[in-house]
Amino acid sequence: MLVRALTPDEFRASIPRLGHILADAVNGGAGVSFMLPFTDADGARYWTDQTQNVDGGSKIVFAAFDGADIIGTVTLDKAWPPNQPHRGDIAKMLVLSSHRRRGVGKLLLDALEAKAREMRLSLLTFDTVSDSPAESFYRGLGFTCIGRIPDYALSPSGKPDATSIFYKKL
Ligand SMILES: CC(C)(COP(=O)(O)OP(=O)(O)OC[C@H]1O[C@@H](n2cnc3c(N)ncnc32)[C@H](O)[C@@H]1OP(=O)(O)O)[C@@H](O)C(=O)NCCC(=O)NCCS
Repeated sequence: MLVRALTPDEFRASIPRLGHILADAVNGGAGVSFMLPFTDADGARYWTDQTQNVDGGSKIVFAAFDGADIIGTVTLDKAWPPNQPHRGDIAKMLVLSSHRRRGVGKLLLDALEAKAREMRLSLLTFDTVSDSPAESFYRGLGFTCIGRIPDYALSPSGKPDATSIFYKKL
């Protein structure tokens, strides 16, 4: 298992696979911004829209490889406001459903944190669906939950879900 940041060229070449991983998560019920129906092509469109920020370096996409295949990903989004040069957001933390509970997600977050420290970021923030597997995952990895907002977003099938707000000081 290898986890590392993708170069912009590698990112472009990986868009179809990353689209498949995003579609796998949405179709499995994960609250990651999208509604059903959602195809691999819809996923690829999302990633294509990120290309400019990946090229500019404000967005760093990490990939976990099983051999030549990407089986998980996470994104470090550097905060854009000039008054938050120390903050990054965690986004699109996704492990292929066939490869979960093998430590892939933890390895991806470790790589993201190492890169964030290298970039001299001192604060990571994000939100995730309350009472979800992802919430258990983040709680177990030392992130602090400051509370929840009810009915924040819809699940892929249209059910209102609360979201939990997390941070970690690096
Ligand atoms: C959340 C997610 C990324 C976790 O990835 P993963 O590779 O399965 O996580 P790991 O194997 O590294 O798990 C590390 C620890 O997190 C906790 N954890 C992970 N998945 C869990 C689950 N479904 N239920 C409870 N705890 C869980 C466990 O403590 C686990 O350690 P253990 O397996 O030794 O008990 C994965 O479930 C996923 O892709 N979910 C769908 C997309 C999603 O919701 N992403 C979050 C968006 S914010």
